[in-house]
Amino acid sequence: MTESFTSGGVAVITGGASGIGRAAARRAAAAGMKIALVDVNAAKLASIGAELQGVVGADNLVVERVDVADPAAMNGFARQVEQRLGSPTLLMNNAAAFVSGGPGGILDSNDNWQRVFAVNVLGPVNGVQAFLPGMLAAGKPAVIINTGSKQGLTNPPGNPAYNTSKAAVNAYTQNLARDLRERDGCAISAHLLIPGWTTTGDATHRAGAWLPEQVVDYMEAAIAADRFFILCPDEETPNEIDHKRIFWSAMDIIENRPALSRWHPDYKEAFAAFMEQDLPGTQHDEEKK
Ligand SMILES: NC(=O)c1ccc[n+]([C@@H]2O[C@H](COP(=O)([O-])OP(=O)(O)OC[C@H]3O[C@@H](n4cnc5c(N)ncnc54)[C@H](O)[C@@H]3O)[C@@H](O)[C@H]2O)c1
Repeated sequence: MTESFTSGGVAVITGGASGIGRAAARRAAAAGMKIALVDVNAAKLASIGAELQGVVGADNLVVERVDVADPAAMNGFARQVEQRLGSPTLLMNNAAAFVSGGPGGILDSNDNWQRVFAVNVLGPVNGVQAFLPGMLAAGKPAVIINTGSKQGLTNPPGNPAYNTSKAAVNAYTQNLARDLRERDGCAISAHLLIPGWTTTGDATHRAGAWLPEQVVDYMEAAIAADRFFILCPDEETPNEIDHKRIFWSAMDIIENRPALSRWHPDYKEAFAAFMEQDLPGTQHDEEKK
C-alpha cells in the first residue's frame, strides 16, 4: 500500500492556491506534512498561505509565487524547499493554464499554444527535473502525481490545445512511471490523476460536479491501492461511461474509423448503440464498492 499523505512527509504542490491543488494542500496539512506551494495567483496564494501557516506553522511551510513554465525558477524553488523542508515525499504537478479553454480552435494563436504547452506539459517536466534528483538521492518512499484530464484521453472537440497538452501529460507520466519502477531500490511511484468534472477556480458548484475534496479522497484511495491511472468519476459520469468512451476512442485506430468518430454524424447511431452494451472484462469502481 502506498501512502500519499504521510505525517512528517513533505508535500510539494503546484497550482496549490486554488481548486484541486488547494484541497490537496489542506489534506497534507491535516495529515501533519510540511508543505511547499507554488502558484501564479498572488492573492489566492497569500490567502491559502495564511490559512496553512495556522495549521502547520511558518517553519514547515514554503509558499512562493513561481511560474511552473520557468525551469530556472522551479529549480530555485526546489533548492529552497530541500534546504528548508527536505525533499518531497509527495510531488503534485497540478498547475494548468486555460483550464476552461482559451479562445479555442485549431487556428488559436501560436502564443496560446506555446503557453498551454509551457504550463501544462513542461510544467510537470520542470517539476520532475527540479525535484526528482533530490528525491532519488534521499532514497525515501515518495509519490509523484501529474494532473491530466479526460480531455487528454478522449479528445472532445472544442479546445485542441488543452486536449493535446493533456494527451502529452498522459504519455509523459506513463514514461515517468516506467522509468521509476525500473530503477533498483527506488520507492518512488508516479500516478496520473484524471479528474472528472470538478468545481474549481471561482466557479459556482453545480449539480453533477464533484468538489475538489472528493477528487483528493479518490486520489488518496487509488494511490493506496497502487493504481497508476486515477480516473475519477463525478456525479454525472461513472467509471463505466468513461471506460466505454475510452474504449471507443482506442477502437477508432483499430477499426480504421474517421478521427474522433464519436462526434462524426455517420457514427452517431453506432456510438449510441455501443454505449448501451456492456464492456467485457472491465471492472468499474462503482461495482467494487
Ligand atoms: N476542474 C476540472 O473539472 C478539471 C477536470 C480535469 C482536469 N483538471 C485539471 O486539474 C488541475 C487543477 O485545476 P483546477 O480545476 O483545480 O483549477 P484551478 O483554476 O482552481 O487551479 C489551478 C491553479 O493553477 C494555477 N496556475 C495556472 N498557471 C500556473 C503556472 N504557470 N504556474 C503556477 N501555477 C499556475 C492557477 O493560478 C490556479 O490557482 C489542472 O491540471 C486541470 O487541468 C481539472
